[in-house]
This record gives sequence, C-alpha cells and structure tokens, in this order.
Amino acid sequence: MNVRLPKVSLGFLRPSSVRGRLTLQYTVIFSLTLVVAAALLYGVLTWIIYWNIDSELQDEANYVKQYIQFAPTGQPTLVANGAAGSDDLNAIFRLAQISDASGRLVKQSPELKGLGFSLEPSELKRILVERPTFITHGWPRQEEIRFANAVLRGPGNQPYLLQIGARLKPINDALDTFLWVMLMLLPVTVASSAVAGSIMAQRTLKPVADITHAAQKITASNLSQRIPVVAAGDELAELAQTCNEMIARLEASFQQMNEFAANVSHELRTPLQAIQGETELALISEAPLAECRRVLESNLEEIDRLNRMIRNLLVLAQADAGQVRPRLEALDLNELVRDLVEQMQVVAAAREVALRAVTAAPVPVQADSLRLRQMVLNLIDNALKYTPPGGRIEVRVERQLGRARVQVRDTGIGIDPADLPHIFERFYRADKSRSRTAGAVDGCGLGLPMVKWVAELHRGSVEVTSTPGQGSSFTVNLPMAGVA
Ligand SMILES: Nc1ncnc2c1ncn2[C@@H]1O[C@H](COP(=O)(O)OP(=O)(O)OP(=O)(O)O)[C@@H](O)[C@H]1O
Ligand SMILES: [Mg+2]
Repeated sequence: MNVRLPKVSLGFLRPSSVRGRLTLQYTVIFSLTLVVAAALLYGVLTWIIYWNIDSELQDEANYVKQYIQFAPTGQPTLVANGAAGSDDLNAIFRLAQISDASGRLVKQSPELKGLGFSLEPSELKRILVERPTFITHGWPRQEEIRFANAVLRGPGNQPYLLQIGARLKPINDALDTFLWVMLMLLPVTVASSAVAGSIMAQRTLKPVADITHAAQKITASNLSQRIPVVAAGDELAELAQTCNEMIARLEASFQQMNEFAANVSHELRTPLQAIQGETELALISEAPLAECRRVLESNLEEIDRLNRMIRNLLVLAQADAGQVRPRLEALDLNELVRDLVEQMQVVAAAREVALRAVTAAPVPVQADSLRLRQMVLNLIDNALKYTPPGGRIEVRVERQLGRARVQVRDTGIGIDPADLPHIFERFYRADKSRSRTAGAVDGCGLGLPMVKWVAELHRGSVEVTSTPGQGSSFTVNLPMAGVA
C-alpha cells in the first residue's frame, strides 16, 4: 500500500516567509499560553495546599489550647478530661512549643527538639506582640516549618505563646517536582507546537504554493495556460480565478498586439512594393518624361495614403495609451457640417454624387473641433467612396432627446450583415472587390475605428444601419452643450 506522509520542509525556519511567520506566531502564542497556564496552576495549587495546612494547624492549636494548664511556677502541663496527667506534648501533636512573654522557651516537643529547631527570644517576643496567625520558619526550604500561633494565659494572666507546627518539606518537594516537570515539558511542547504549526501553515498555504508554481510556468509564449482552480470556493480559489482572468486579459492584448503588428507590416508592404516596382521599371526602361511624371504622380498617391495611414495609426496609438485630452470648445455642429460638406463638393462632383447638408436650428456642442471635423470627414469620405455615380449623400444634423446627432446617409453599395459587426475594428475592410467595382480608392480600414474613438472621446457613440445594394446610414450621438 502506498502511504503518503506529509512532507515536512524546514521552511518554517525562515521567518521572512509567510509560513515562517505563521509558525512563529503560533509557537509564541502557544508557549505563552502554556507558561501562563502553568504559573496559574502552580499558584492555585500552592494556595490550596497552604490553606489546608493552615486550617488544620489552627484547628489543632485551638483544640490543644483547652488542655493546657500552668503550674504556679509557669510550667505548662497537659490535662486530659480535666485531670492533670501526661506531660507529653508529643502524645497529641508532634511539633509544638510554648514560650513565655520574655521569649524564653518553657516547653518544646521532643520531635521539634530533635530537628534542632530554635527561635531567638526576641523573635518569639515579637510574635507574641504582633500575633500573626501563621508563620513560616526555617532555611533552607527543605527545613521549613509552618506554625499556627495561639496565645495562652498563664499565672497572673501572663501571656504565653503556643505554636503548633508542620514540616513543609513533603509539600515543597511535591511543588518543586511539579515545577520541574513543567519546566522540562516546556521546550518539548514548544518544539512540538512549532512542528505542528509549520505543518498546519504548510497545509493552509499549499494552494498558494500551487498558484505560485503554476504562475511561474506561464510566460509570454504560453499565455494560454491557466492556474488550476480548486473547487473549495474559498479566498484562495478566488485568487486563482482572479489571476486567470488577468492572464486571459494579457493573452488577449498580446494577441491583439501580434495581429496589429502583422496588419501594419502587411499594409505598409503593399504600397511600398508598388512604389519600388514602378520606380525600378521607369528607371530600367528609361521611360520618357511624361511616363516618369505619371509614375511620380502614382507614387505620390501611394505616399499620401501611407502618410494618412501612419497619422491615423499614431493617433490611435496615443488614444490606446490614454494620452489624448480633447481640446474642448463651444461650437455649432451645423456650421461645422455645412463647412465640411461645402469643402467636399468638388470631390462629390468628380464622382457624380449629390452631396448635401440638412441642418436646422443651431446645435451647440462642447467639442474638439479638429477631431470632430476628422470624424465627420471620415464618414463623408466613406460615403463618397462606396456610393456609385448617380447616388445621393445626405449629412443631417439634429437634436434628438437632448443629444446632438449627426447622420451620414448614402445610397451606396451598403454593407453585408456579416461585415457589420466588424467594420469598427482596425484594418477591417468588407469585400474589397465590391469597393473596387464602385470605383473606390483602397483604404486601409482605420477610418471607422477613428470615428468610434472620437465619438467616445466626447462621451458619445456611433451606430450603423445598412442594406446591401440600397445604402448605409452612420449616426453619431454626442452630448449637447449645457445639457447634463
Ligand atoms: N458608407 C459605406 N458604405 C459601404 N461600406 C462602407 C461604408 N463605410 C464603411 N464601409 C465598409 O467598412 C469598411 C471599413 O471602413 P473604414 O473607413 O474603417 O476603412 P476604409 O474606408 O476601407 O479605409 P480608410 O478609411 O482607412 O481609408 C470599409 O472597407 C467598407 O467596406
Ligand atoms: Mg474610411
């Protein structure tokens, strides 16, 4: 049978680790509790034992007191049942002595005498004056005797001190043994609590170690890997889940970056190859001046396209980095649109497309005029590009439910429903052959992403509806100035 024992590493010896700190805290708390509990136990035990001894000694002193009588000389004798008799104090109790007011010992039991126990007269006098109920005498600890003190009246009402004692050696020995056992148990308990604490900490932290291990194996080249999530549903499972979500976001942006780089290089390569090919051909064939001019013009067109693309890319990259702040100013949307439509009339005429602006009451907005112009221009540019000769384009500005609205509607080739969800993605172009048949110049698919970004920069949005073969309509909604 394969038995798996818990692996105990020495990680708990490293206080900089969480496991080390947990173990240390656990050990310290456990040890302190143990020390306090042992000290309390020792104290209570000592108190109970002493209390018992004391009450026994006092009972004994009170009992004996009644049976002591004094001769006129001051010599005490023990009377049993009222008759003078035995002189043996030892017959009733083992450790006893009687002293007079001057501190002179007048009687001492043989056993006390045998222990070689004696007190200074001054000490005995002091006890008789101060009358403490109990007193402990003797040194070292093993020789200690606990006395109960009682006062007797002798001839002439003279005070005598009766002391009944018990040896503390057996009790002290027991208490010392208890203390030693406790002291010896302490290091053993501390060591075992440290080991137990370490194992517990290791068990608790195992999912963290698993997460660390799994996360260490994930690099840029294998971002598809995920951290295993334990089904416990606790905080650590949540941590693993959160890490996984972060890795998923990283993976998505890595993929986006890769696609973006591939798209950019592809878009740059085509026009550059065209420019290179045409230029080389013109040079080799020693073409006439007119042909050279045509090549240069064609190259210029390509360069212009490249320029536009790089400018757009730059703006979108800045937008991605969140570096662009719109320069807001109060302006009338009607005026801006009328101006742009006027400007584009030449191009529209060249393409035999009717372009007109429909505006009514002024529509005030707080906007970055440069970016807003770029946005409307991109929409008009698209409409012109994808509307065959004889078509119509209408740019309408209106107020709608407290928002400013710009709508660019054309009677062009329209957009396939399959393409609609993608046209705002960078570098996305719907079926190129269709646009070519419509006589459009190839774009690079950055116009609409730019429109969307500008709309969002102004806390607005853009929507599109389109029917293939009938036309498209792009609507930008913007907040109106002075309207919350
Ligand atoms: N008015 C429109 N009518 C038909 N199709 C359109 C219209 N506007 C955009 N599209 C389609 O959406 C695609 C994306 O448009 P977008 O403006 O982003 O790129 P582009 O015009 O091809 O290139 P660029 O604007 O960068 O020069 C276009 O390629 C086209 O297929
Ligand atoms: Mg465009």
